[in-house]
Amino acid sequence: MRTQVAIIGAGPAGLLLAHLLARGGVDAVVLETRSQEYVAARIRAGILEQSSVDLLTSAGLGDRLRAEGHEHRGIYLQWPGERHHLDFLDLTGRTVWVYGQTEVQKDLVAAGTALVHYEVSAVSLHDVLAERPSVTFVDADGAEQRLEADVIAGCDGSFGPSRGAMPARTFERTYPYSWLGILAEVAPSTDELIYAWHPNGFALHSMRSPTVSRLYLQVPNGTDPAGWSDDRIWDELATRLGHGQDGWKLTPGPVTDKSVLPMRSYVQTPMRHGRLFLAGDAAHIVPPTGAKGLNLAIADVTLLSRALVAWLKDDDPALADGYSDDALRRVWRCTHFSWWMTTMLHIGADPFDAQLQLSQLKWVTTSHAGAQGLAENYAGLPIGF
Ligand code: APR
Ligand code: PHB
Repeated sequence: MRTQVAIIGAGPAGLLLAHLLARGGVDAVVLETRSQEYVAARIRAGILEQSSVDLLTSAGLGDRLRAEGHEHRGIYLQWPGERHHLDFLDLTGRTVWVYGQTEVQKDLVAAGTALVHYEVSAVSLHDVLAERPSVTFVDADGAEQRLEADVIAGCDGSFGPSRGAMPARTFERTYPYSWLGILAEVAPSTDELIYAWHPNGFALHSMRSPTVSRLYLQVPNGTDPAGWSDDRIWDELATRLGHGQDGWKLTPGPVTDKSVLPMRSYVQTPMRHGRLFLAGDAAHIVPPTGAKGLNLAIADVTLLSRALVAWLKDDDPALADGYSDDALRRVWRCTHFSWWMTTMLHIGADPFDAQLQLSQLKWVTTSHAGAQGLAENYAGLPIGF
C-alpha cells in the first residue's frame, strides 16, 4: 500500500488531518486500533473555541455544529457566597461553543473524506529519517500489511507508538487529584458553565445539550467510582456548586455514565523527527480545566495540514520545517493556561495556597485586565498565534 501521508490514530486529530489534507489535494490513509463504534462512542471534551468553530466551518464541517451546538458568551466563576459571570464576548469579542467531541467525530465520519482502516494491530513505524518511511500493521482480517508514505503523522494519543519513535524531551506534571465525572439525563441547571472553588474541592457544571448535563467533582487520586453512589455525587455537587445560594438550585437526574479522570500535563518536544510529525494528545496532554485538549488538537492539525500540502503538493518545505516551533508556541500557552486554571481552582493540602487562590479569583472577577487575560485564553487565541 502506498499513500502520501500515513496517519496513525482516528481520533479527532487523525480524522480532521485526513479531511483537511483531502481538501488540499493530498492523499492520506488512517490506521486505528479500535473499532469505528468504539471511537465514536467515547465520552470526551465538550467545548470548542471560536477558532476551532471557524476552522471546522471553513472545512465544511460546521452545519450540524451551528444547528445543534450552543454558543456561550462566557463562564461563571464562583466560591462560597459569590458567583461572577465573565463575558468573553464583551471582553474579547470571541465566544465558545458547547458541542461534544463525540459530535465532531461523527461529523468527520459522516464527511467520509478519510480512508480509515479500523481494528488494526501491531502498528510499527519504520525509517522515519529516510525518504520513504513506512508503517507495518496487521489488518482487521489478520493480514500483515505495509503502508509506505512520504510522511507519517502520529495522531495516536499518549499511549500510541509514535511518541516512542522519536528521540524527544518530555516535560510533565502530575496533579495530586482527579475528577469524578458524570453524564446525566437532566436539563442543565445553568445557562453557561460554572467553575466552582470550594473548601471540599473543585466542582464544574458543564453540559452537552438542553437535556444532558456533564458534571465533575475533584476527588483524591485512586478514587473508585463505585464508592460514590448517585445520591452522594448529587449531594456533594449541590454543596460545592452552591445549591440555595441566592435562590439557585441544582436539579439532579438519572446518571448514565460515571468515571474517574486522572489529571496531568505533558509536552513532548520537538513535535517533528525527520518525516514523523506528532499532533494532538500524542504530543501533549493538558488537564481538562479550561477545555483545551480538543482545541489544541484542532490547532495542531490545521498547521500540519497547511505545512504538508505546501510541502507535498507545492514542493515548499518551509511550513513543515517551522511546524514544531509554530505548534509548540500555542501548546505552551495552553499548557500554562490549563495549569493555571487547575491550580487556581483545586484544593490542596496547604491553607496558604487556598488564600492565594481566593485572591486570584477575586482579581480575575473584579479587574478588567484580570478578566480579559482569562477570557482571551479560554475563548482561545487565533490559530497561528
Ligand atoms: N495504532 C493506531 N491507532 C492507535 C494506536 C495504535 N498503536 N494507539 C492508539 N491509537 C488511537 C486511539 O485508539 C485513538 O482513537 O489513536 C487515537 C487517538 O485519539 P485521541 O486519544 O482522541 O487523541 P487526539 O485525536 O489527539 O484528540 C485530542 O482532545 O479532548 C481531548 O484528550 C482528548 O482525545 C482528545 C484529544
Ligand atoms: C466538559 O464539558 O466535559 C468540560 C467542559 C469544560 C472543561 C472541562 C470539561 O473545562
